[in-house]
Amino acid sequence: MIIAVLKEITAGEQRVAATPETVKKYTDLGFKVRVETNAGVAAGFDDESYLAAGAEIAKTPEQTTKGADIIIKIHAPLVSEDSLFRQGQTIIANFDALSQKERIKTIAALGVNAFALELLPRISRAQSMDILSSQSNLAGYKAVIEAFNLLPKAAPLLMTAAGTNAPARVLVLGAGVAGLQAIATAKRLGAVVYASDVRIAAKEQVESLGAKFVEVAADEDMETNGGYAKEASKDYLKRQKEALTERLKQTDIAITTALIPGKPAPKLIDAKMLKQMPKGSVVVDMAANSGGNVEGSKKDSLLDIEGIRVLGNSNLASSIPYSASQLFAKNIFNFLNAQYDKEKKELKFNFDDDLVSQTCICRNGQYLLEDRK
Ligand code: NAI
Repeated sequence: MIIAVLKEITAGEQRVAATPETVKKYTDLGFKVRVETNAGVAAGFDDESYLAAGAEIAKTPEQTTKGADIIIKIHAPLVSEDSLFRQGQTIIANFDALSQKERIKTIAALGVNAFALELLPRISRAQSMDILSSQSNLAGYKAVIEAFNLLPKAAPLLMTAAGTNAPARVLVLGAGVAGLQAIATAKRLGAVVYASDVRIAAKEQVESLGAKFVEVAADEDMETNGGYAKEASKDYLKRQKEALTERLKQTDIAITTALIPGKPAPKLIDAKMLKQMPKGSVVVDMAANSGGNVEGSKKDSLLDIEGIRVLGNSNLASSIPYSASQLFAKNIFNFLNAQYDKEKKELKFNFDDDLVSQTCICRNGQYLLEDRK
């Protein structure tokens, strides 16, 4: 069986779906791996390192996918890539499928099979394959680094002969995967960190990282059985805004990561709240992709709103492509490995397994997202 690794052509994308480490793992299982030339170069993996791991290098995208059984990618193929695929081939990537249903229909029409790894259920068996978690983790880290780059203040408490520098104050909204890593990173830099979340379980996690939890009285726990947040009531959001307004008056950096699956991002910070932050403060809106947690923020833009710089970088993981590719590539390998029968030495997707049935968005050309929200 041949696994093909294409160079990503989405603007600004520097990651790659296989690293020399995963190529070696695939070849050890008996797969042949074909990598498009320079596919990993932006992430720090040159053609020689893939060759040394047992891959062959193809000169063009056409040569890369020709006769391949499985094509692994970071993003869904762009329309301009459609001619690279043939009936019966299997594509594995982050398809952003639920927000791109019309595009998924055109991909299905190519006659391919497609697995959207962003749809993996968040169960423990899927953790090693979970691209959303691995990339959010790195993005949460990078959001803090980007914010401190823009902040005219130092992060830690500095006691010098010339005087004392107070530590920076960071507020993280949403203590999920990205938020917890943002908290941990800001703490490591020496900042004083506050965080808020609607899920009761988040309080203990926030505090275990040494941050202070911003409490908002709630009548119920807003966590679903699946571990995600429920949509907060208007009344709750009003009380949350009051609490956050007070905290933001003393915040140098706010990182917003609040997400409710399938809903627009909750608006947590409005222009009036921004105006009350100390001058020179920085906000990174990680949810800018899905509408934003901050009023006026814009994806892939650095805006000045009420004297506060608001950054909406939509692909933070791509800005640390070496680390992000290593984790993404391992996520894909773990997904395929779970479907690989080591005795028979064959890959067979088991559609009775949730990991397969939940992620399969096209099967033999059939579009499977009709009833999915
Ligand atoms: P997650 O689901 O692990 O965490 C989201 C958190 O937000 C949950 O803990 C949830 O309880 C909390 N939340 C929901 N409503 C809230 C409210 N009203 N107030 C406070 N907290 C609330 O999601 P993850 O993976 O951490 O991603 C967070 C966001 O970051 C998403 O919007 C995601 O799309 C975005 N993201 C952006 C990246 C970038 O490069 N810009 C990269 C990765 C993720």
